[in-house]
Amino acid sequence: MSQSFSEIRSAYNLAADAYANTFLDELLSKPRDLELLQQFASVIGIGQRVLDLGCGPGHTTAHLASLGLRPVGVDLSPSMVAKANSLFPDIEFTEGNFFQLDESDGAVAGVLAFYCIVHLQKEELIPAFREMFRVLQPGGLLLLSFHVGNDSIHVDSFLDTGAPLDFTFFPVADVRSALTAAGFTHLETHERPPYDTEHPSTRCYLFAHKPQSQVRGTADREFRVEQ
Ligand SMILES: C[S@@+](CC[C@H](N)C(=O)[O-])C[C@H]1O[C@@H](n2cnc3c(N)ncnc32)[C@H](O)[C@@H]1O
Repeated sequence: MSQSFSEIRSAYNLAADAYANTFLDELLSKPRDLELLQQFASVIGIGQRVLDLGCGPGHTTAHLASLGLRPVGVDLSPSMVAKANSLFPDIEFTEGNFFQLDESDGAVAGVLAFYCIVHLQKEELIPAFREMFRVLQPGGLLLLSFHVGNDSIHVDSFLDTGAPLDFTFFPVADVRSALTAAGFTHLETHERPPYDTEHPSTRCYLFAHKPQSQVRGTADREFRVEQ
């Protein structure tokens, strides 16, 4: 890991206000993301409990609630959790680490992980995905997003807050193979170019299913949709 949990937590504690100011309304100008979130909610079904991992200031969590899901936002940074609680007091947010979630096996119908793997190294993907797999109920659905590429970039002062952060871009094949190694099946990949307001990197969104049963040897049905 290039940065420890403590360093990532401190960085987002520093950046929480600026992050909320910058990204709170971002979904309004991201129609593709809204479509994919709608797809996530429709597959899971109204009233189901889901986790929004690395929820930041809670705007995606609130959107999941508006789609009829029962979301809990989880974030490493107490300042992000406090920000999310103040912005969305009717929604549950909790401090936590997605490598070791405070949830029993099969506790949730869905996991959203929007841009929260961006500080991981390749070798950390499988353990992170195993924990997401563990908390999903059989038949549960994961939707995650990340920046596509081979680079790692260091930012000295994220959003001009003085917060130092390292970001990792991943080849799609690496993320897909880590998901499969963690037990996920039926992977569905969507890529899109960046919107004008975004960092100029291709975005990838991946749906991944926890099988209904743990029977080995079932052939994966795979989809690939390039946007
Ligand atoms: C780039 S932000 C994404 C926030 C939000 N999901 C979004 O799409 O705007 C990454 C978030 O993940 C959180 N995070 C990073 N590592 C984490 C971990 N191991 N467990 C829980 N949250 C983590 C950070 O504190 C930060 O709020």
